[in-house]
Order: sequence, then structure tokens, then C-alpha cells
Amino acid sequence: MLRLEFMPLRRKITLGMVLVAGLALVLSSLAYLAFQARLFRQTKARRAMTLARVVGDNSRAALAFNDQAAASQILQSLSANPDLQRACLFDANGAIFAAYPAGATTFPKFSDADSAQFHAGTLEVFHGIHQREDRLGGIYLQIGSSDLDTAFRWHLIFTLALLGVLVLLALAVSYRIQKVITAPLLDLAAVAKRVSDRKDYGARAERRSQDEIGTLVQAFNGMLDQIEARDAELRIYREHLEEQVEARTQELHAANQELLLAKQKAEGVSRAKSAFLANMSHELRTPLNAIILYTDLMKEQAEEEGRKQDASDLDRVSGSADHLLRLINDVLDLSKVEAGKMTLASDPVQVEAVVDAVVQGLHPQAAKQGDTLEAEIPASLPPFLGDATKLRQILYNLLSNACKFTEQGNLKVSVEAFEKASAPWLRFRVSDTGIGMSEEQLARLFQDFTQAEESTSRRYGGTGLGLSLSRRLAQLMGGSISVESEPGKGSTFTLEIPAPPLPGGAS
Ligand SMILES: Nc1ncnc2c1ncn2[C@@H]1O[C@H](COP(=O)(O)OP(=O)(O)OP(=O)(O)O)[C@@H](O)[C@H]1O
Ligand SMILES: [Mg+2]
Repeated sequence: MLRLEFMPLRRKITLGMVLVAGLALVLSSLAYLAFQARLFRQTKARRAMTLARVVGDNSRAALAFNDQAAASQILQSLSANPDLQRACLFDANGAIFAAYPAGATTFPKFSDADSAQFHAGTLEVFHGIHQREDRLGGIYLQIGSSDLDTAFRWHLIFTLALLGVLVLLALAVSYRIQKVITAPLLDLAAVAKRVSDRKDYGARAERRSQDEIGTLVQAFNGMLDQIEARDAELRIYREHLEEQVEARTQELHAANQELLLAKQKAEGVSRAKSAFLANMSHELRTPLNAIILYTDLMKEQAEEEGRKQDASDLDRVSGSADHLLRLINDVLDLSKVEAGKMTLASDPVQVEAVVDAVVQGLHPQAAKQGDTLEAEIPASLPPFLGDATKLRQILYNLLSNACKFTEQGNLKVSVEAFEKASAPWLRFRVSDTGIGMSEEQLARLFQDFTQAEESTSRRYGGTGLGLSLSRRLAQLMGGSISVESEPGKGSTFTLEIPAPPLPGGAS
């Protein structure tokens, strides 16, 4: 049998209606049949009692005059009644007076009270016969109930036939009703399927009624309206988006081209700038060297001739010229690095000698500032392959800064060897207990011509070239420079460079 959840709605509704109608019809038919059966029996009993009374009245004279022949005759006349099985008349003592059929002897015991009762398919009737107050006797009738059965059977057949017709009628009516209920639902289901299968959001279900199903259909259509409108909006947006993307791509492309041009221009300018700086520095250096040379000669002459004032003036000129030359050299170096023309020497470098030279060179300045200056170099540092001049330049820049920004403090240069990616490296630390730098100042460090603070150049002099040049040189060597600093506490600059050993381990 089809399980209820898989049964189509149409069949479920029809089945439900027919079941309810059928059950009501069967129950009412049963009640009707029971009532009819009871009515049949009552009628039959009443008639049998009437018959007993009539026979009793007729037999009164025969009983009074003890005329058994007349009594028998009266009983035999009952044979016209086909249902009558047996009958007898009792005398006043309860003895059988006459019997039907003649000669029958077995009868129940006489009962004076009038009664009509059914026993096992037969009706037994007792009726007392009286003459005024005196009892003359009684009558007993035993009547079959086959007529009852026949009548009841016909009744049953008729009722069942009627039941069948009514159930068929209920089926027809429920079929009509279920059609009214399910048609809009089936229509709705078909539209929903079409929407989900074909993505056809233009489909609509027809509203046929104003009941809950009608509301459902209307809500479903409203939902589809919204989806369709949103779809259209999205489509427009998508088309628009493609246009927008296209326009943006073109803009980006144009901007890219512009940037490319600007970059090429900038590179050209940068190259021109570097070339100009290199030329300029060269042009400046030549006369400056002449100035230094002739100043030194004049100073020697003035000293020889005992012109002390002139000698000290010429000494100052010479010092300024030296400073200028260093500056020009820095600018030249920076432009060389920028132009990619700076080359590194690859000679054996004695670390201790380089550090010593830098420390000795800055000793007088440190003493002037009231700083102590110490160097910490491990005894067994092997020489390495590198550019001693550039290393000296970096260390000089770092230590001269430490010196410049520290008064009455401690300056220290330390060296240590370490390994990085299983290659030998060197780490130089230049630390001071000077003015230090804030986070903000640190962020601006290492930029060309930039000092940590605007006021620095006024107070300490300098151009802001030293660190940027040092970092570029360190990078050129394949290393790096980093810094840690705290305002008022001091700074530590750390230089790390690869230190490839000499070929063949020569020292
Ligand atoms: N040891 C230090 N302590 C405090 N500030 C420092 C230290 N070293 C560098 N600075 C800051 O960084 C700035 C940049 O240093 P850099 O060596 O590049 O330039 P400079 O010393 O000012 O000039 P130059 O070295 O060209 O003569 C300095 O002006 C200073 O403000
Ligand atoms: Mg400096």
C-alpha cells in the first residue's frame, strides 16, 4: 500500500473525505439496523400475544365445560398460521388440556403470568385464561422467527446497497471538492518547479480564490516579483560594473604609462645629477688641493719666519680646506654609489689596524670633548678579504658622530666575529653615552642630507651625509647598519659585514 507521505495530495484529500463519510454512514446504518431488529421483534411479540389472547378467549367456554374436543378443534384452527410450531391449552391445575399438533406432549411448565420471550430463534408466549376472578387455565404458543430473519435480511441487503451508493456519492463529491482545493496548490507547485528548474523568475501562479491558498499564491508571486526586480538590478549593476572595470583598467593603463615615462625621466635626471656631482666634485677638488698645498707651504714659511699669528691663521685655513675636501669626497662617493660606479677593493684587511687607525684619528677630538675612548678587539681575529679604506670610512663616520654628540661621556668600539648561514661575519659596535635619539629621530636616520633634528647642524655642524654614505657602503659590502638609541642615554650603531677568509688561509 502506498505510504501516506508519498501519496499525492489529491488522493489524500479524497481518501480522507470518503473515509469520514463512509465511517459515518456505516455507524448510522448499524444503529438503524439494530433499531429495526428491535422493532421487528417487539411487533412480532405483540402480535403473538394478541393471537394468544384471541385463542384464550375462544377456548374459555371449552375449558369451563371441560370440552376437550372443542379445545382441540380451536387449536387445530391455528394451523393457518405457518410460523406456529406448537401450542397447548392448560387446565386450571396446569395439566395439558389440548395440544397442537395433536398428540404433542412435551411443553414447558405452565406459567400464569403473561409473557412473550425469544429463546434460540423461537418466540414463547404464555397467557393466563380467566373467567371473572377465577383462573380457568392458560395457553402456550411456540412461534418460529424465520419470517423475522427474512425481513431482517432484506433490510440488511437494502441498507448495504444504500451504503454502497452513498459511499460512491461521497467519492464523487469529495473528488469535486478536492479538485477545488488542490488545483491552485498544484498550479503553485508547478510554477515553483518551473522557477527552480529553468530559473524562470517571470513565471506567476494564478490566484483563483480569496482564501488562505489565495494568500499563499499572492505571497509567492510577490516573492517572485522581488527576485525578478533584484535580478534586473543585478544585471544592470553587472553590466555597469564591466564598463567601470574597463574604464578603470584604461585609467590604470594610462597612469602606468605616465609613471613609466616619469620613471624613465627620473632615472635620466638621476643619472645626469650623479654625473654632474661627480664632475663638480672633481672640479672642486682640484683647486682645493692646490689651496691646501699652498696653504701648507705658506704656513711652513710663516713658522720659519716666526710669524706666529700668520701661521695660526693659515692653520685655520688649512683645517677648513681639509673639512671641505672631506665633504666633497663624501658627495663624490655618494654620487658614485648612486650611479653604481663605486667599486670595492678585495685585499687582505687587518681588523685591528683599521680600528686602531680610526681610534687614533679621533683621539684628539674625544679628548677635547672630555670623552674616554676605548676599543675592544679580540686578540685572535684573522684578516679577511675586503676593502680596508671603505671600512675605515664607515667606522670613522660612526665614531666621529659618537664623539660629536657626546660630552664628558664614554665612547667604545668593539668587534666580534660570528657566523651567518655558515659563513664568517664581523660585527662592529660603536656606542656612546651621548645625547641619544628619539623614535621619531631614528625613523629619519640614514636619509641623504638629513639630520636627526633641524637644530643639529646649527649646534654641532655637519651635513647629514655621513650615515647615509656609511649605510650604502655597508650594503655594497653585503652587510648592514642598525641602530639602538634612547634620548639622553646614548646610542649604539652596529655594523655587520661578511668577512670572507683569505684564500688558502694566508695571514
Ligand atoms: N651617535 C649619535 N648620537 C646622537 N645622534 C646621532 C648620532 N649619530 C648620528 N646622529 C644623528 O644623526 C644625524 C645624521 O648623522 P650623519 O652622520 O649622517 O650626519 P652629521 O653627522 O650631522 O653630518 P656629517 O656626518 O655629514 O658631517 C646627525 O645629525 C645626528 O642628529
Ligand atoms: Mg656624521
